Amino acid sequence: MAVSVLLVVFLLFSTSKVNGSCPANCSCTTDTSGSDINCNSRSLGHIPDALPNDTCNLYLQDNSITTIDVQFSTFARIRFSEIPVKTFVECELLENIFLTSNNISTLEPFTFVNLPSLQLLYLDSNKIQSLESETFMNMENLSELFLSKNEISAIAPFTFVNFPNLYMLYLYNNKIQSLESNTFINMTNLVDIYLYKNEISTIDPFTFLDLPSLRYLGLQNNKIQSLERNTFFNMPYLFSLELYNNEISTIEPYTFIDLPRLNYVSLANNTIRSLERYTFINLPILNNLILASNPLNCDCSIFPFWSWLNERVTIETGAKCSNGTPLTFLQPAALEHCNQENNLDPTNTHYEDSVCDGETKENTNRFPGQCGRLVNILWYSLYE
Ligand SMILES: *[C@@H]1O[C@H](CO)[C@@H](O)[C@H](O)[C@H]1NC(C)=O
Ligand SMILES: *[C@@H]1O[C@H](CO)[C@@H](O)[C@H](O)[C@H]1NC(C)=O
Ligand SMILES: *[C@@H]1O[C@H](CO)[C@@H](O)[C@H](O)[C@H]1NC(C)=O
Ligand SMILES: *[C@@H]1O[C@H](CO)[C@@H](O)[C@H](O)[C@H]1NC(C)=O
Ligand SMILES: *[C@@H]1O[C@H](CO)[C@@H](O)[C@H](O)[C@H]1NC(C)=O
Ligand SMILES: *[C@@H]1O[C@H](CO)[C@@H](O)[C@H](O)[C@H]1NC(C)=O
Repeated sequence: MAVSVLLVVFLLFSTSKVNGSCPANCSCTTDTSGSDINCNSRSLGHIPDALPNDTCNLYLQDNSITTIDVQFSTFARIRFSEIPVKTFVECELLENIFLTSNNISTLEPFTFVNLPSLQLLYLDSNKIQSLESETFMNMENLSELFLSKNEISAIAPFTFVNFPNLYMLYLYNNKIQSLESNTFINMTNLVDIYLYKNEISTIDPFTFLDLPSLRYLGLQNNKIQSLERNTFFNMPYLFSLELYNNEISTIEPYTFIDLPRLNYVSLANNTIRSLERYTFINLPILNNLILASNPLNCDCSIFPFWSWLNERVTIETGAKCSNGTPLTFLQPAALEHCNQENNLDPTNTHYEDSVCDGETKENTNRFPGQCGRLVNILWYSLYE
């Protein structure tokens, strides 16, 4: 009870001082949609705490702001009254917040909640270290969120909640190390996610879920080592997937499923040695599959993929064997031989040593039931 009374007193007090005028040293203009508060490049160490309640555009770029110690939301204060903020700012008309190029290192959970009119939020080029759950909540009109060029190393699941109109999410140039399930969920209008130039080494299955409008996912220039099944799952409009300049060596079957509009996948400059038969099936309009700069192992294990590629003649992969031979130069006859020999699943290969008694066993590219020398001949014949 005492707490509630204090809270009410506090709310009354805070309400009485919200209707501020133009902050000192800033310039302000007002029109029918509200006030634009221009405090760019003013060497500010804090967000001015008495902002006009009709603030529409808040320009705070190029300052030295280190924390966001105001609460912008009218609705948030009772539910989230534990937030350690200096003051509440009642800006029901707030449409755009520009905080690019400051020195912000932490964002408290619930800093940006219940801001129904906010459309653009610029937090790029700061020093934000991590994103906690429920930092950004209930911004019905937010269309673009700029978090690039920070030092974000971790994003908690459920960081982004209820963003029905978000369509661009910028997280490039950070230090994100892994992506967890339920991080990018239920953003019905999200079109592009930019995650390139991070340090992502693992992506959990179902990291990206219920993104019915997503068209572009940029994961290039990271440290991804493997792709697991259900990583890219049910994104009916996904058109372009960038995975180049990673350290991907394995791609599980069924990594790419229910992606009927996927047109472009770049896997260039990874360390892929083998590709499974089922890796790229059910991608009906895949036209660009870039595989250049991967050390493909062109023994019989490549046969299923090579056969698939032969049927999709419009796809130009740039794929090369580890010895530099373009995959398309492999002789059909020799590879057909692989098919006849075994239909092999390379992960399940057993050698019948008895058959090879007395033969050299150096060659790791042997097929079931075959001796080293015979296989050697076949293997080299692939390149002729
Ligand atoms: C406004 O600018 C003056 C001169 O640069 C400075 O002394 C003063 O501290 C500034 N006030 C605020 C609130 O930043
Ligand atoms: C701003 O505050 C004034 C005075 O308290 C009030 O009359 C006005 O309706 C408020 N405007 C908004 C948009 O809340
Ligand atoms: C940002 O903060 C660091 C300390 O964390 C300080 O050294 C640096 O001068 C600050 N930069 C600006 C532009 O305020
Ligand atoms: C959200 O945006 C739409 C379209 O711009 C606008 O009509 C609506 O009033 C906005 N909602 C709020 C709460 O500002
Ligand atoms: C997904 O988003 C819609 C629209 O924003 C919302 O109504 C629904 O509750 C959300 N579902 C979940 C599981 O969060
Ligand atoms: C290939 O990727 C590695 C990182 O995995 C990167 O260091 C290198 O610069 C890339 N090479 C090219 C030609 O982009």
